[in-house]
Amino acid sequence: MALPVVDTEYLKEIDKARRNLRALIASRNCAPIMLRLAWHDAGTYDAKSKTGGPNGSIRNEEEYSHGSNSGLKKAIDWCEEVKSKHPKITYADLYQLAGVVAVEVTGGPTIAFVPGRKDSNVCPKEGRLPDAKQGAPHLKDIFYRMGLSDKDIVALSGGHTLGRAHPERSGFDGPWTKEPLKFDNSYFVELLEGESEGLLQLPTDKALLDDPKFRHYVELYAKDEDAFFRDYAESHKKLSELGFAPSSPGSKAIAKESTILAQGAVGVAVAAAVVILSYIYEVRKKMK
Ligand code: HEM
Repeated sequence: MALPVVDTEYLKEIDKARRNLRALIASRNCAPIMLRLAWHDAGTYDAKSKTGGPNGSIRNEEEYSHGSNSGLKKAIDWCEEVKSKHPKITYADLYQLAGVVAVEVTGGPTIAFVPGRKDSNVCPKEGRLPDAKQGAPHLKDIFYRMGLSDKDIVALSGGHTLGRAHPERSGFDGPWTKEPLKFDNSYFVELLEGESEGLLQLPTDKALLDDPKFRHYVELYAKDEDAFFRDYAESHKKLSELGFAPSSPGSKAIAKESTILAQGAVGVAVAAAVVILSYIYEVRKKMK
Protein backbone atom coordinates (compact mmCIF):
# COMPACT_ATOMS: atom_id res chain seq x y z
CA MET A 1 0.00 0.00 0.00
CA ALA A 2 1.45 3.41 -0.96
CA LEU A 3 2.28 5.65 1.98
CA PRO A 4 -0.29 8.36 2.64
CA VAL A 5 0.26 12.01 3.43
CA VAL A 6 -2.35 13.66 5.61
CA ASP A 7 -2.46 17.43 5.84
CA THR A 8 -4.49 19.66 8.14
CA GLU A 9 -7.13 20.24 5.42
CA TYR A 10 -7.73 16.48 5.28
CA LEU A 11 -7.95 16.29 9.08
CA LYS A 12 -10.62 19.01 9.01
CA GLU A 13 -12.60 17.03 6.43
CA ILE A 14 -12.34 13.94 8.64
CA ASP A 15 -13.79 15.93 11.55
CA LYS A 16 -16.72 17.10 9.44
CA ALA A 17 -17.30 13.61 8.02
CA ARG A 18 -17.33 12.24 11.57
CA ARG A 19 -20.15 14.63 12.46
CA ASN A 20 -22.05 13.74 9.27
CA LEU A 21 -21.67 10.04 10.03
CA ARG A 22 -23.02 10.55 13.55
CA ALA A 23 -26.10 12.27 12.11
CA LEU A 24 -26.57 9.65 9.39
CA ILE A 25 -26.27 6.73 11.82
CA ALA A 26 -28.69 8.39 14.26
CA SER A 27 -31.29 9.16 11.60
CA ARG A 28 -31.16 5.70 9.99
CA ASN A 29 -30.42 3.67 13.10
CA CYS A 30 -27.81 1.87 11.08
CA ALA A 31 -24.85 1.51 13.49
CA PRO A 32 -24.74 -2.32 13.23
CA ILE A 33 -24.49 -2.51 9.46
CA MET A 34 -21.90 0.31 9.41
CA LEU A 35 -19.74 -1.67 11.83
CA ARG A 36 -20.17 -4.78 9.69
CA LEU A 37 -19.14 -2.81 6.57
CA ALA A 38 -15.93 -1.59 8.24
CA TRP A 39 -15.12 -5.12 9.44
CA HIS A 40 -15.78 -6.74 6.05
CA ASP A 41 -13.58 -4.20 4.21
CA ALA A 42 -10.73 -4.77 6.69
CA GLY A 43 -11.17 -8.49 7.40
CA THR A 44 -9.94 -9.64 3.98
CA TYR A 45 -6.35 -8.78 4.91
CA ASP A 46 -3.65 -11.34 4.26
CA ALA A 47 -0.50 -10.50 6.21
CA LYS A 48 1.75 -12.72 4.05
CA SER A 49 0.86 -11.33 0.63
CA LYS A 50 -0.06 -7.93 2.09
CA THR A 51 -3.27 -7.93 0.06
CA GLY A 52 -6.85 -7.05 1.02
CA GLY A 53 -7.54 -5.07 4.17
CA PRO A 54 -9.15 -1.69 4.85
CA ASN A 55 -8.68 -0.21 1.38
CA GLY A 56 -12.25 0.55 0.26
CA SER A 57 -12.25 -2.24 -2.33
CA ILE A 58 -15.59 -3.49 -0.96
CA ARG A 59 -17.28 -0.59 -2.80
CA ASN A 60 -16.77 -2.52 -6.07
CA GLU A 61 -19.55 -4.86 -7.21
CA GLU A 62 -17.01 -7.63 -7.69
CA GLU A 63 -16.50 -7.65 -3.89
CA TYR A 64 -19.82 -6.52 -2.39
CA SER A 65 -21.55 -9.26 -4.37
CA HIS A 66 -19.61 -11.94 -2.45
CA GLY A 67 -22.05 -14.08 -0.45
CA SER A 68 -20.52 -13.01 2.87
CA ASN A 69 -21.14 -9.33 2.02
CA SER A 70 -24.84 -9.82 1.39
CA GLY A 71 -26.79 -6.73 2.49
CA LEU A 72 -23.78 -4.42 2.69
CA LYS A 73 -24.57 -2.49 -0.52
CA LYS A 74 -27.06 -0.51 1.56
CA ALA A 75 -24.32 0.66 3.93
CA ILE A 76 -22.01 1.45 0.97
CA ASP A 77 -24.75 3.66 -0.52
CA TRP A 78 -25.31 5.46 2.78
CA CYS A 79 -21.59 6.16 3.06
CA GLU A 80 -21.74 7.63 -0.45
CA GLU A 81 -23.94 10.44 0.96
CA VAL A 82 -21.03 11.45 3.21
CA LYS A 83 -18.42 10.86 0.50
CA SER A 84 -20.25 13.29 -1.84
CA LYS A 85 -19.95 16.02 0.82
CA HIS A 86 -16.29 15.20 1.52
CA PRO A 87 -14.87 13.89 -1.76
CA LYS A 88 -11.27 14.27 -0.58
CA ILE A 89 -11.70 11.50 2.00
CA THR A 90 -10.81 8.04 0.72
CA TYR A 91 -13.42 5.27 0.85
CA ALA A 92 -10.95 3.29 2.94
CA ASP A 93 -10.87 6.00 5.62
CA LEU A 94 -14.60 6.67 5.35
CA TYR A 95 -15.64 3.05 5.98
CA GLN A 96 -13.26 2.70 8.94
CA LEU A 97 -14.44 6.04 10.35
CA ALA A 98 -18.04 4.79 10.02
CA GLY A 99 -17.11 1.70 12.05
CA VAL A 100 -15.49 3.75 14.80
CA VAL A 101 -18.45 6.16 14.95
CA ALA A 102 -20.94 3.25 15.01
CA VAL A 103 -19.29 1.85 18.15
CA GLU A 104 -19.08 5.25 19.84
CA VAL A 105 -22.66 6.39 19.22
CA THR A 106 -24.10 3.14 20.58
CA GLY A 107 -22.26 3.58 23.88
CA GLY A 108 -19.08 1.63 23.14
CA PRO A 109 -15.48 2.66 23.76
CA THR A 110 -13.71 5.49 21.97
CA ILE A 111 -11.45 4.05 19.29
CA ALA A 112 -8.44 6.06 18.16
CA PHE A 113 -8.77 6.85 14.47
CA VAL A 114 -5.74 7.66 12.34
CA PRO A 115 -6.55 8.71 8.75
CA GLY A 116 -4.48 8.23 5.62
CA ARG A 117 -5.58 4.89 4.12
CA LYS A 118 -5.30 4.55 0.35
CA ASP A 119 -8.12 3.26 -1.86
CA SER A 120 -7.68 0.18 -3.99
CA ASN A 121 -9.75 -1.34 -6.77
CA VAL A 122 -8.11 -4.72 -6.40
CA CYS A 123 -10.72 -7.03 -4.87
CA PRO A 124 -9.69 -10.13 -2.94
CA LYS A 125 -11.06 -13.49 -4.02
CA GLU A 126 -14.20 -14.69 -2.25
CA GLY A 127 -13.60 -16.76 0.89
CA ARG A 128 -11.32 -14.60 3.03
CA LEU A 129 -13.99 -13.75 5.65
CA PRO A 130 -15.02 -16.29 8.30
CA ASP A 131 -17.71 -18.89 7.67
CA ALA A 132 -20.24 -18.75 10.51
CA LYS A 133 -20.93 -22.50 10.29
CA GLN A 134 -17.40 -23.48 11.33
CA GLY A 135 -15.51 -23.82 14.62
CA ALA A 136 -12.49 -22.57 16.57
CA PRO A 137 -9.73 -23.89 14.21
CA HIS A 138 -11.35 -22.05 11.30
CA LEU A 139 -11.56 -18.81 13.31
CA LYS A 140 -7.85 -19.12 14.11
CA ASP A 141 -6.97 -19.79 10.44
CA ILE A 142 -8.83 -16.70 9.30
CA PHE A 143 -7.74 -14.26 12.01
CA TYR A 144 -4.11 -15.46 12.22
CA ARG A 145 -3.92 -14.89 8.44
CA MET A 146 -4.74 -11.24 9.17
CA GLY A 147 -2.03 -11.17 11.83
CA LEU A 148 -4.52 -11.02 14.71
CA SER A 149 -4.45 -12.96 18.01
CA ASP A 150 -6.78 -15.15 20.10
CA LYS A 151 -7.56 -12.13 22.26
CA ASP A 152 -8.44 -10.09 19.15
CA ILE A 153 -10.75 -12.88 17.96
CA VAL A 154 -12.77 -12.87 21.18
CA ALA A 155 -12.79 -9.10 21.69
CA LEU A 156 -13.84 -8.44 18.09
CA SER A 157 -16.53 -11.14 18.20
CA GLY A 158 -18.06 -8.88 20.85
CA GLY A 159 -19.07 -6.68 17.88
CA HIS A 160 -22.11 -8.99 17.79
CA THR A 161 -23.39 -7.04 20.78
CA LEU A 162 -24.82 -4.88 17.97
CA GLY A 163 -27.30 -5.81 15.27
CA ARG A 164 -28.88 -9.00 14.07
CA ALA A 165 -28.77 -11.65 11.39
CA HIS A 166 -31.24 -11.53 8.52
CA PRO A 167 -32.42 -14.81 6.93
CA GLU A 168 -32.38 -13.31 3.42
CA ARG A 169 -28.73 -12.25 3.86
CA SER A 170 -26.99 -15.01 5.80
CA GLY A 171 -29.62 -17.67 6.41
CA PHE A 172 -29.41 -16.92 10.17
CA ASP A 173 -32.04 -15.00 12.07
CA GLY A 174 -32.22 -12.75 15.11
CA PRO A 175 -30.11 -10.57 17.41
CA TRP A 176 -27.39 -11.78 19.78
CA THR A 177 -28.52 -9.57 22.64
CA LYS A 178 -31.71 -8.09 24.07
CA GLU A 179 -30.63 -4.52 23.17
CA PRO A 180 -29.00 -4.78 19.73
CA LEU A 181 -28.51 -1.02 19.42
CA LYS A 182 -26.48 -0.79 22.63
CA PHE A 183 -22.78 -1.57 22.65
CA ASP A 184 -22.04 -3.35 25.94
CA ASN A 185 -20.70 -6.71 27.18
CA SER A 186 -24.07 -8.50 27.02
CA TYR A 187 -22.90 -10.63 24.05
CA PHE A 188 -20.52 -12.45 26.42
CA VAL A 189 -23.08 -12.68 29.23
CA GLU A 190 -25.63 -14.26 26.85
CA LEU A 191 -23.00 -16.57 25.38
CA LEU A 192 -22.18 -18.00 28.82
CA GLU A 193 -25.87 -18.35 29.69
CA GLY A 194 -26.42 -20.63 26.68
CA GLU A 195 -29.19 -20.68 24.08
CA SER A 196 -32.20 -18.57 24.93
CA GLU A 197 -35.50 -17.97 23.17
CA GLY A 198 -35.28 -15.28 20.46
CA LEU A 199 -31.50 -14.79 20.67
CA LEU A 200 -28.94 -16.05 18.16
CA GLN A 201 -25.68 -17.90 18.70
CA LEU A 202 -23.74 -18.75 15.54
CA PRO A 203 -21.53 -21.86 15.53
CA THR A 204 -18.53 -19.45 15.47
CA ASP A 205 -19.91 -17.65 18.55
CA LYS A 206 -20.33 -20.95 20.44
CA ALA A 207 -16.80 -21.93 19.36
CA LEU A 208 -15.50 -19.22 21.71
CA LEU A 209 -16.56 -21.47 24.59
CA ASP A 210 -14.76 -24.58 23.28
CA ASP A 211 -11.19 -23.34 23.11
CA PRO A 212 -9.68 -22.72 26.60
CA LYS A 213 -7.79 -19.60 25.45
CA PHE A 214 -10.92 -18.13 23.89
CA ARG A 215 -13.06 -19.08 26.90
CA HIS A 216 -10.74 -17.26 29.29
CA TYR A 217 -11.51 -13.97 27.52
CA VAL A 218 -15.25 -14.72 27.22
CA GLU A 219 -15.42 -15.17 31.00
CA LEU A 220 -13.32 -12.07 31.64
CA TYR A 221 -15.41 -9.85 29.35
CA ALA A 222 -18.71 -11.17 30.76
CA LYS A 223 -17.76 -10.09 34.26
CA ASP A 224 -15.66 -7.02 33.50
CA GLU A 225 -17.08 -4.63 30.91
CA ASP A 226 -14.16 -2.20 31.33
CA ALA A 227 -11.73 -4.97 30.33
CA PHE A 228 -13.89 -5.71 27.28
CA PHE A 229 -14.05 -2.04 26.24
CA ARG A 230 -10.28 -1.61 26.69
CA ASP A 231 -9.40 -4.73 24.66
CA TYR A 232 -12.12 -4.12 22.07
CA ALA A 233 -10.85 -0.59 21.35
CA GLU A 234 -7.32 -1.95 20.93
CA SER A 235 -8.35 -4.85 18.67
CA HIS A 236 -10.69 -2.70 16.60
CA LYS A 237 -7.88 -0.20 15.99
CA LYS A 238 -5.61 -3.06 14.88
CA LEU A 239 -8.29 -4.40 12.54
CA SER A 240 -8.88 -0.94 11.06
CA GLU A 241 -5.15 -0.49 10.39
CA LEU A 242 -4.23 -3.86 8.86
CA GLY A 243 -1.60 -3.26 6.19
CA PHE A 244 -1.52 0.45 6.98
CA ALA A 245 1.41 2.11 8.76
CA PRO A 246 -0.15 5.40 9.81
CA SER A 247 2.26 6.82 12.35
CA SER A 248 5.37 7.57 10.33
CA PRO A 249 3.93 9.27 7.23
CA GLY A 250 1.16 11.04 9.19
CA SER A 251 3.56 12.40 11.73
CA LYS A 252 5.98 13.29 8.93
CA ALA A 253 3.28 15.40 7.32
CA ILE A 254 2.45 17.06 10.62
CA ALA A 255 6.17 17.45 11.38
CA LYS A 256 6.62 19.05 7.95
CA GLU A 257 3.93 21.58 8.77
CA SER A 258 5.41 22.34 12.19
CA THR A 259 8.83 22.84 10.57
CA ILE A 260 7.31 25.31 8.12
CA LEU A 261 5.58 27.09 11.01
CA ALA A 262 8.81 27.13 13.04
CA GLN A 263 10.75 28.43 10.05
CA GLY A 264 8.10 31.13 9.59
CA ALA A 265 8.42 32.16 13.24
CA VAL A 266 12.23 32.39 12.96
CA GLY A 267 11.81 34.52 9.82
CA VAL A 268 9.46 36.93 11.62
CA ALA A 269 11.83 37.13 14.63
CA VAL A 270 14.83 37.90 12.38
CA ALA A 271 12.88 40.59 10.51
CA ALA A 272 11.76 42.14 13.81
CA ALA A 273 15.35 42.12 15.12
CA VAL A 274 16.59 43.84 11.95
CA VAL A 275 13.90 46.55 12.30
CA ILE A 276 14.72 47.12 16.01
CA LEU A 277 18.50 47.21 15.41
CA SER A 278 18.15 49.68 12.50
CA TYR A 279 15.94 51.86 14.72
CA ILE A 280 18.51 51.81 17.57
CA TYR A 281 21.28 52.58 15.04
CA GLU A 282 19.30 55.56 13.64
CA VAL A 283 18.55 56.92 17.13
CA ARG A 284 22.19 56.62 18.22
CA LYS A 285 23.34 58.29 14.95
CA LYS A 286 21.02 61.25 15.62
CA MET A 287 22.30 61.52 19.23
CA LYS A 288 25.94 61.79 18.10
C1 HEM B 1 -15.79 -14.11 14.16
C2 HEM B 1 -16.27 -14.32 12.96
C3 HEM B 1 -17.54 -13.71 12.48
C4 HEM B 1 -18.53 -14.35 11.82
C5 HEM B 1 -18.54 -15.80 11.40
C6 HEM B 1 -19.59 -13.39 11.62
C7 HEM B 1 -20.78 -13.66 10.99
C8 HEM B 1 -21.86 -12.82 10.93
C9 HEM B 1 -23.14 -13.13 10.37
C10 HEM B 1 -23.53 -14.47 9.74
C11 HEM B 1 -23.93 -12.04 10.48
C12 HEM B 1 -25.38 -11.89 10.05
C13 HEM B 1 -25.46 -11.09 8.74
C14 HEM B 1 -26.90 -10.86 8.36
O1 HEM B 1 -27.63 -11.83 8.19
O2 HEM B 1 -27.30 -9.69 8.22
C15 HEM B 1 -23.16 -11.03 11.15
C16 HEM B 1 -23.63 -9.80 11.47
C17 HEM B 1 -22.89 -8.84 12.10
N1 HEM B 1 -21.56 -8.91 12.38
FE1 HEM B 1 -20.40 -10.57 12.31
N2 HEM B 1 -19.22 -12.20 12.13
C18 HEM B 1 -17.97 -12.33 12.66
C19 HEM B 1 -17.20 -11.36 13.23
C20 HEM B 1 -17.61 -10.05 13.37
C21 HEM B 1 -16.76 -8.97 13.79
C22 HEM B 1 -15.26 -9.11 14.09
C23 HEM B 1 -17.53 -7.85 13.86
C24 HEM B 1 -17.15 -6.45 14.24
C25 HEM B 1 -16.14 -6.12 15.00
C26 HEM B 1 -18.86 -8.22 13.45
C27 HEM B 1 -19.93 -7.38 13.40
C28 HEM B 1 -21.20 -7.74 12.98
C29 HEM B 1 -22.36 -6.89 13.12
C30 HEM B 1 -22.41 -5.51 13.79
C31 HEM B 1 -23.43 -7.58 12.56
C32 HEM B 1 -24.89 -7.12 12.49
C33 HEM B 1 -25.17 -6.46 11.17
C34 HEM B 1 -26.60 -5.98 11.03
O3 HEM B 1 -27.34 -5.89 12.02
O4 HEM B 1 -26.99 -5.66 9.89
N3 HEM B 1 -18.87 -9.56 13.13
N4 HEM B 1 -21.92 -11.52 11.40
